[in-house]
Amino acid sequence: MMKNVLIIGSTGQIGSELTLALRSRYGNSKVVAGYIRGAEPVGILAESGPSEPADITEAAQIAEIVKKYKIDAIYNMAALLSATAESKPQLAWSIGVQGLFNLLEIAREMNCSLFTPSSIGVFGDETPKDKTPQDTVQRPKTMYGVTKVSGELLSDYYFKRFGVDTRSVRYPGLISHVAPPGGGTTDYAVEIYYAAVKGKRFECPLAAGTFMDMMYMPDALDAAINLMEADPAKLIHRNSFNVTAMSFDPEILRKEISKHIPDFQMEYKLDSVRQSIADSWPNSLDDSCARAEWGWNPKYDLQAMTADMIAELRGKL
Ligand code: SER
Repeated sequence: MMKNVLIIGSTGQIGSELTLALRSRYGNSKVVAGYIRGAEPVGILAESGPSEPADITEAAQIAEIVKKYKIDAIYNMAALLSATAESKPQLAWSIGVQGLFNLLEIAREMNCSLFTPSSIGVFGDETPKDKTPQDTVQRPKTMYGVTKVSGELLSDYYFKRFGVDTRSVRYPGLISHVAPPGGGTTDYAVEIYYAAVKGKRFECPLAAGTFMDMMYMPDALDAAINLMEADPAKLIHRNSFNVTAMSFDPEILRKEISKHIPDFQMEYKLDSVRQSIADSWPNSLDDSCARAEWGWNPKYDLQAMTADMIAELRGKL
């Protein structure tokens, strides 16, 4: 089951850690770090294994890499996050949908499996907000959500119609001390830790009482890897699985951080774009299908994540 893997978006928020995790699992030379110009890999990412320019909007470029390295699994981590996608909706579609379509065609022709993250952004105002079921209303009003729902549909279509091994999870907000996110609605839950550890006052862009699902990056990496290694016979769903590790609002997060940094100060300075996106997303997901079908079981809750984030950032900053 040795795999040759290509990561699209290997220098991004998830890709930078996923690439290293896959290299330690499958071997450094087996995992190709795909990147776009202007976001070249540096440091350990550049030194530990092969890398290639791999722009998801350039199908021929990606097909060449798949041929050259005999790639049999692609992790598609290219995306604009939700707030950025609202300011660049055409680019968000081109990366999220046209780009995915390019990869699906390559996967069909060259027999690759394909992992593409979806998001809590696939849900909208009409979706049940608490314990949001696996199979429910998906009518998002954001371009990010529109691209992610389209991606789920396209990926399931390619599985049913052509037998392409497509798999996906609906990530919640992801928190990490390595690569920062950019332009997401859940970014505050990363930025707050940087502010707290630097001894700065944090301006929170979302209101108290805004609950969203969240997850620490080690669990997010496990979700991708474990789903891709799961026995396909056990998968009833494919694109895409609800996964979550915790749900909190800014007040709960502030209080948890204050246990470690008692003089931490936060004030509210609302961002109306992010607030309206957050209001349209679930408060908490039901991830029981992921647990039952492929053994999803996150390790970090808010307490464990906060202790680790603060320790790691103290070392880094
Ligand atoms: N973190 C993402 C965002 O906020 C959610 O998928 O856009």
